[in-house]
Amino acid sequence: MNPIDLRSDTVTRPSAAMREAMARAIVGDDVLGDDPTVSLLQDRVARLLGKQAALFVPSGTQANQIALLVHARPGDEVLVGEGAHLMSLESGAAGAIAGVQLAVLGKGGLFEGADVEHAVHPLDSQYAPTRLVCVEDTHNKAGGRVWPLERLREVSAAARSHGLALHLDGARLLNAAVASGTSAKDRAAPFDTVSMCLSKGLGAPVGSLLAGSAELIGRAHRFRRMLGGGMRQAGVLAAAGLHALEHNVERLAEDHANARRIAEAVRGQPGVTIAEPVETNIVRLDLAPPARSAPEVFARAFERGLLLTPMGAGCLRAVTHLDVDRATCERAGEILLEALRG
Ligand SMILES: Cc1ncc(COP(=O)(O)O)c(C=O)c1O
Repeated sequence: MNPIDLRSDTVTRPSAAMREAMARAIVGDDVLGDDPTVSLLQDRVARLLGKQAALFVPSGTQANQIALLVHARPGDEVLVGEGAHLMSLESGAAGAIAGVQLAVLGKGGLFEGADVEHAVHPLDSQYAPTRLVCVEDTHNKAGGRVWPLERLREVSAAARSHGLALHLDGARLLNAAVASGTSAKDRAAPFDTVSMCLSKGLGAPVGSLLAGSAELIGRAHRFRRMLGGGMRQAGVLAAAGLHALEHNVERLAEDHANARRIAEAVRGQPGVTIAEPVETNIVRLDLAPPARSAPEVFARAFERGLLLTPMGAGCLRAVTHLDVDRATCERAGEILLEALRG
């Protein structure tokens, strides 16, 4: 039997209906700007996020890195939350490609307007000029935490008062919107640029978008090309994204409920701390004695047919998604409990 794969929401396979939509896609050469399906997807996402334009790119990593290139110059400082994907999981790209210096705000991924106020270096000082604030919503390493809308606005107001730009790493922005009952547009409004992934909870095989003003997205085109992200008959991929936006948004609530079921199954085990509240599709478990170590629990779960992601010595992550239903997640909760106990 195949293992239950909760390593990430990126492991989903395109459904038969999605593959049909891909096969039917009308395509052109998108680098030359004439793939109608890509254009349709870009327009749809721009509207969804309340921005003038959007650009289809291969990955969330590339969307974030293009945002850094659009907003900052080498030697500039960029403020991020603890554990930000664009700092810790993008292979050093922020330093190697955009050449920016990253400074961490707050604890646990989310931060406040006051953290921005305290961190800003004025442009006329001898320090690296602060240019940009990046927010991650939902926050992956924090266990899928959703930013309260008011907090997004407060951080934005603080950044604006210092003339800083704002980028939202919204790889899972629609999870945040569905979980909080707020619109993606309202959540995107405080930001100049917003990245959003189709290849995670939405279940498409490839693709992310970067949205913003026509001027910023015009500049983003050049950086996409520079990073090798120009794709030709990309309409087959965009069609999967359009299908995902049509069919797989509201159902994210099921993934969130399933994540809570897994957390429920292991809550209260000695030495196990769950990142609470479990608001979306990520369950983060921090393990300390008397609990087994994360590698041990990972191995025991693996032997029993459950795949998780170890995150360092003391932490494990389980992510629910389109390809695991309620019964499978209940079984995953039982396996995880067995792996922790005994
Ligand atoms: C918050 C966040 N941002 C960006 C990315 C990068 O996306 P990709 O894997 O498409 O490069 C991820 C991937 O998991 C993520 O969790």
